[in-house]
Amino acid sequence: MDDFITLTYNGKELQLPVITGSEGEKAIDISRLRAETGFITLDPGYGNTGSCLSSITFMDGEKGILRYRGIPVEQLAEHASFKETAYLLINGRLPNRDELTQFSVMLNDNSLVHTDLKAFYQNFPRGSHPMGILSSMVNAMKSFYPDLGNQEEEMTLTMTRLLAKVRTMAAMSYKISRGHEIVLPRPDLTYCENFLNMMFDTPVKPYEIKREAVNALRTFWILHADHEQNCSTSAVRVVGSARVNLYAAISSGISALWGPLHGGANQAVIEMLSKIESGSESCAQVIARAKDKNDPFRLMGFGHRVYKTYDPRAQIMKRMCDELLESMNIKDPLLDIARELEELATKDSYFIDHNLYPNVDFYSGIVLRAIGIPTNMFTVMFAIGRLPGWIAQWKESTDDPNWKISRPRQIYTGNLEYDYIPIHAR
Ligand code: CMC
Repeated sequence: MDDFITLTYNGKELQLPVITGSEGEKAIDISRLRAETGFITLDPGYGNTGSCLSSITFMDGEKGILRYRGIPVEQLAEHASFKETAYLLINGRLPNRDELTQFSVMLNDNSLVHTDLKAFYQNFPRGSHPMGILSSMVNAMKSFYPDLGNQEEEMTLTMTRLLAKVRTMAAMSYKISRGHEIVLPRPDLTYCENFLNMMFDTPVKPYEIKREAVNALRTFWILHADHEQNCSTSAVRVVGSARVNLYAAISSGISALWGPLHGGANQAVIEMLSKIESGSESCAQVIARAKDKNDPFRLMGFGHRVYKTYDPRAQIMKRMCDELLESMNIKDPLLDIARELEELATKDSYFIDHNLYPNVDFYSGIVLRAIGIPTNMFTVMFAIGRLPGWIAQWKESTDDPNWKISRPRQIYTGNLEYDYIPIHAR
């Protein structure tokens, strides 16, 4: 096996080291390229660029594999709790019983939110998107919680605080948007139960915690917990590389996730399916528009930068969607529309030739609707799930002894130098 690749340029040669990952994927280390040759590389969208070495998540887009710290996501979705998954991602291994208990106690102890933060919520204009609110609130947390040092114990507290409080803040924002009383977290409930209770319990009608809903939420969050160097995770790493505090780095991840090509796709899918349900467009018309190069529309919930086969998360989500609706005796017309769209798309040569399959967002909105989550909160649900991954990636990058501030270069294509012209002469 070659340990070097030879680059030939202008009659000269440069040996570039080859780095091989633990699953055999290969990279050419170009860190000396500019210094030695004067060249940089150009890779818009970074489709061929590895930004870091990472031991957190492994994906194989051709085979449809996703593993957290080596464990297949299918096994975690089947057997683990979200708390265990978060611990695994952040600490690199599964917790033992004592460690899990200690982690649960810390999450409970930190789940309340400073009452002064409530005033912030009330000053956002009505109709503000919950993702904009969440991103601002997470950034604001830095002002409410004392600066902690970099000792391991202090960092663990900051990370646990985020995991505990973001869940409470998300439920608070929903309650405030409806003009309802805030429901506080309860120490006797699990992470997922607590969230549902904070969202839906009211003094008039106590929330009945249903096993199916809790299990669906647990699975949803585990499936979203990490996805290696995607757009929002890269935002967390890039912003974190300037050595900002964890809250600021996570807030930038939330903002990136909001986009409809990324986490915002779950909301966009439901909007697309609802439009078909309203009769304003048929499934066939939607497919035709997605294929039309003169139309910017894309089939939402389809396609992925890495997966060139069925997204393994989408497979679990689709199965769970069927089981959940059946067990809760829910008939959602959007599920039939989604199935019809999938059938049309997966038989169509455009989608086959472009390797476009359903991604995690295609069926996830139908699952969230079934457990009562309003559409504008879908991407917030994704953000709560992705939080352990962002934290793990931030921790890995800040612990890296070879860590550098992120600072890509560019190829300048603008004007050559010319003199300033005074305004009267222009
Ligand atoms: N509908 C129609 N055409 C598509 C779609 C789609 N959903 N996705 C990609 N294509 C076409 C695209 O037009 C291009 O065609 P051509 O080569 O003929 O010009 C080709 O496929 C490659 O597209 P790309 O934009 O270069 O691919 P990418 O890897 O940069 O983009 C993506 C990945 C997810 C942004 C894209 O597939 C997309 O926009 N999907 C819809 C939005 C969506 O569902 N996003 C959620 C992603 S999963 C959740 C997450 O982790 O973010």
